[in-house]
Amino acid sequence: MLTLPTDPKLNLGNFKVKDMRILGIETSCDETGIAVYDELHGLMGHEIYSQIELHREYGGVVPELASRDHVHKTLPLINKTLVSAGIEKSSITGIAYTAGPGLMGALLSGASIGRSLAWSLGIPCTPIHHMEGHLLAPMIDDENISFPFLALLVSGGHTQLIAAHKLGEYELLGESIDDAIGEAFDKTAKMLGLPYPGGPEVAKLAEQGIANTYKFPRPMTDRPGLDFSYSGLKTFAINTFNATEKSEQDKANIALAFQTAAVDTLFIKCKRALKQTKLNQLVVAGGVSANQYLREKLGTLKQELSTNVHYPSKEYCTDNGAMIAYTGYLRLKHEHQQSLSFSTKARWPLTELHPPM
Ligand code: KG4
Ligand code: ZN
Repeated sequence: MLTLPTDPKLNLGNFKVKDMRILGIETSCDETGIAVYDELHGLMGHEIYSQIELHREYGGVVPELASRDHVHKTLPLINKTLVSAGIEKSSITGIAYTAGPGLMGALLSGASIGRSLAWSLGIPCTPIHHMEGHLLAPMIDDENISFPFLALLVSGGHTQLIAAHKLGEYELLGESIDDAIGEAFDKTAKMLGLPYPGGPEVAKLAEQGIANTYKFPRPMTDRPGLDFSYSGLKTFAINTFNATEKSEQDKANIALAFQTAAVDTLFIKCKRALKQTKLNQLVVAGGVSANQYLREKLGTLKQELSTNVHYPSKEYCTDNGAMIAYTGYLRLKHEHQQSLSFSTKARWPLTELHPPM
């Protein structure tokens, strides 16, 4: 990390704690997400540019292509967001950018644009943990969520159960010991010949599947603990597929059996974690939280354990700038980066975060 002196332009005395208006920049993977969150008006604008088409022919994200595209798209998307929100750049009081975890080059492009813009405007800037953004996304438009709660983070890189005690204080209760659930969805999709990203495609195909054609395992549910394993389930799907005639109906049946097993496993572990922690709110976030079967299955916890289950609205499930602007708003109320130096982290456990000072 390059260490530079405190920013001489940053006049924190002028930074009003009231009436905050935060620009959020998300560039950790294959989506450029920009948003403005205002203390009084809530989310004023948000735009997403997805690189899905760029990476589709490779069947997954190509990091160098992702970084270059963020460099091209971030500034125009900031301008577009400000225009559609009907606000001037000068009305922004702070900037939040994703600093990790994610693809290094992609993170650096958003971080350097965010920090430079903040410096030029003379306003504070704060680095945001991508998974904290996901975890808080349901709060953007649901006022009924309050700490402490149990969080289930399910994305392309994470499958985690977290006890969220307060902002910045997160206890890891369990996680996948191998593939993340989103990764298993994506790999199963690829094997079935479905395009990237595979999760929504598997879910769509599963609608045509005949229930109970195959019985897939529910990994690691027969032993105590809150960890997950998804690599075996993916292999089970591949082996099952190879033993079929590979018809469209076979594919749909496998998609359904995989999705049912993957989600049932989450359900079993969530129930266990709720009983263990005695928490009565469950917040589900990350790309896989868009899955309809997951929502239906976890919804039954309301009746079974009187647990209120919360999700982000569908547009904030996958990567977006709104969750970064909102998390930035919560953090910038208390803290800001005064130094001109910054770093990004490809790997960054959520448990390393601290509550804002
Ligand atoms: O949170 P996200 O946008 O990016 C990461 O931080 O990883 O999550 C992307 C993951 C991908 O694996 C994608 O296939 C999965 O979320 N996903 C879904 C659905 N929508 C997105 N998986 C299952 N069902 C869905 N409807
Ligand atoms: Zn994400």
